[in-house]
Amino acid sequence: MATGYGKVILLGEHAVVYGYPALASALPCGVTLEAAPGALSVRVPSWELDVDVAASPAHPVARALVAVAGAVAARAARELPAAALRGDAQLWPAAGLGSSGALCVAIARALAAAAQVELSDAEIAEVANRGEQIFHGSPSGLDVALAASGRAGVFRRGRGLTPVRLRPLTLVIGHSGEPRSTARMVARVAEQTGGDPADARLLALADATSRGVEAATTGARADLGLAMRDAQRVLAELGVSTPRLDALCTAAEGAGALGAKLTGAGGGGCAIALVADDAAPVVDAWQRLGARTRVEVLG
Ligand code: MEV
Repeated sequence: MATGYGKVILLGEHAVVYGYPALASALPCGVTLEAAPGALSVRVPSWELDVDVAASPAHPVARALVAVAGAVAARAARELPAAALRGDAQLWPAAGLGSSGALCVAIARALAAAAQVELSDAEIAEVANRGEQIFHGSPSGLDVALAASGRAGVFRRGRGLTPVRLRPLTLVIGHSGEPRSTARMVARVAEQTGGDPADARLLALADATSRGVEAATTGARADLGLAMRDAQRVLAELGVSTPRLDALCTAAEGAGALGAKLTGAGGGGCAIALVADDAAPVVDAWQRLGARTRVEVLG
């Protein structure tokens, strides 16, 4: 089975687009695909995704599939055998958890395996990013790097992922239920900052990330929680939070979370809350607000 992992960004989303580091971890679940001989297509029933390139060439998933297949063929320096990709996903789609990056990495791995081409994680991430560009315009590469590595790390655009060893962290992930668009949120931050990497809000996000990396690797969970709270305040100022995400963060902190913030591009999707020990109070608070929840222990 070819796997692409989901991801959770602890700190640094949006700032990473401007060259600042982001701290993130792959999730233990994602998208798994297997290639069989057949017309170029992908089917993931749990996402109600069934796209045949010849039948729906303009579908974004078909365009991503063609882009990734082209990039794998270029790496292999030969044509790929036609492949029908079938599989499963254990990740909420379009929720800020890296579903499209995981899909593109699973596609890249399945096509490379079918063509018997050996690619490193970095090469897989590079070819998968061609597909991710179809979904998100100009992604930083963070999602595909995590989807390929399956690990935690600090990512920097152009430099890739440096693995880090997180001290154990319990996170509650809550789905706002709001639909979102990464490309629209990235465009909103560009409007807000004028695209200037020296914008004070981007610098504040970078500062929160650097404090958070130190805290997450030394086990200073209270400091990591504070860095998450600071990042959420700045992300809200940049216009990528929503009243619902704000309400989830406030409820989590009211239920004892050390810190809570949106994760991923925002504008909907998921919030994360860092808890000291017991996840149940935050899970209850979020479920009372109608959010779907999952608990992940990282590190
Ligand atoms: C999306 O998961 C993270 C963003 O920083 C966009 C990107 O890095 O490409 C919002």
